[in-house]
Amino acid sequence: MISIKENADVIEMNRMTADDVIEMLKITGNHEMDMLFRKANEIRHQYSGNRVFLRGLIEYSNICSKNCYYCGIRENNKSVFRYKMSVTDVLEAVWFAVKNNLGSVVIQSGELTSSANTEEIRKLIKQIKSFSGNKLAITLSCGEQTEDTYIKWRDAGAERYLLRIETTDKKLFENIHPKNSHHSFEKRLEALNNLKKCGYQVGTGVMIGLPDQTVESLARDILFMRDFDIDMCGMGPYIEHNCTPLALNKSENLKLEERYNLALKMIAVLRIVMKDVNIASTTAFQAINNMGKINALDAGANVIMPNITECKYKSCYSLYNNKPGIENSREAELKTTLDLIYSASNVPGFNESGDSVHFLNKIHANIH
Ligand code: 5AD
Ligand code: SF4
Repeated sequence: MISIKENADVIEMNRMTADDVIEMLKITGNHEMDMLFRKANEIRHQYSGNRVFLRGLIEYSNICSKNCYYCGIRENNKSVFRYKMSVTDVLEAVWFAVKNNLGSVVIQSGELTSSANTEEIRKLIKQIKSFSGNKLAITLSCGEQTEDTYIKWRDAGAERYLLRIETTDKKLFENIHPKNSHHSFEKRLEALNNLKKCGYQVGTGVMIGLPDQTVESLARDILFMRDFDIDMCGMGPYIEHNCTPLALNKSENLKLEERYNLALKMIAVLRIVMKDVNIASTTAFQAINNMGKINALDAGANVIMPNITECKYKSCYSLYNNKPGIENSREAELKTTLDLIYSASNVPGFNESGDSVHFLNKIHANIH
């Protein structure tokens, strides 16, 4: 079995091959896994210090035109109450973010591509910017859009965009999505390339523990993120949602605990491979284990997203079973988040927009 210490050369010199990544993802045993997490956390501290960047998460709308087989808000799930927040409700959340020095917000929604939707989000971005006195950085997570739409939203003031590739294995991607042109692997890749071209800080990520997903495939996901040169990553364990097609063969899937450990290892390995990118400690970890977000920080994540969506909407934005914290007020959610940051021996990055250091370094290198 690999020893993290013996492998220090490979780690330090960033000469990671697919085999090295596979070997790390295959590590089992609490002691060996702890060594991996410790190494990743050390690198995180070395490159980004002990600050954890804060993003207030606003679940703007759960209306979606897609039918991803794994997702609880897929269009064909008729048991979901569909909503879109009013501008007033969004600005109330924004005001909470400003008042509490969060530094940035994420606008997340299902995927809609109408021109009316493009315009609504464009206006929303402008309103958030002016209402917050340009104090808040904005990350969008609103799915695949045309290059034109991405340009409009960027020009309105959005700096960052999250679009998960879900898996870089085309065959697996096709297994977890309907087979039609609305759910195309190539289009997902094209959208990611367009985001980069438009000058966004680009984030992507994968789900971990999907049916038939292998460690080899996850290793290729890591190398894809490195070679695409992403700036940010949001990833976490796959968790069944009862009203989805992918949940039907539940018994054949990896145990939740195994997915959880594998997902933590993915965070650690990505941190070792991409030292200065922003990596989120995501809610899916917390859905499996109540130490989830702390464990993800300890494994090398440096971003946390307290959910500041009003309670009445939160339970409708349900991607998987047992979404945690749906009954928490914004105040309670923020307190819990700050407590867990401190308990992982970190400090919150109050009033910091929390740009990806990786992105800033690229810009800097291009100027000089
Ligand atoms: N389990 C875990 N993550 C999920 N997502 C959607 N459904 C699930 C699920 N069942 C993730 C996807 C998507 C993001 C918005 O949420 O990665 O990109
Ligand atoms: Fe819609 Fe995203 Fe869910 Fe797919 S994963 S159904 S695009 S919200």
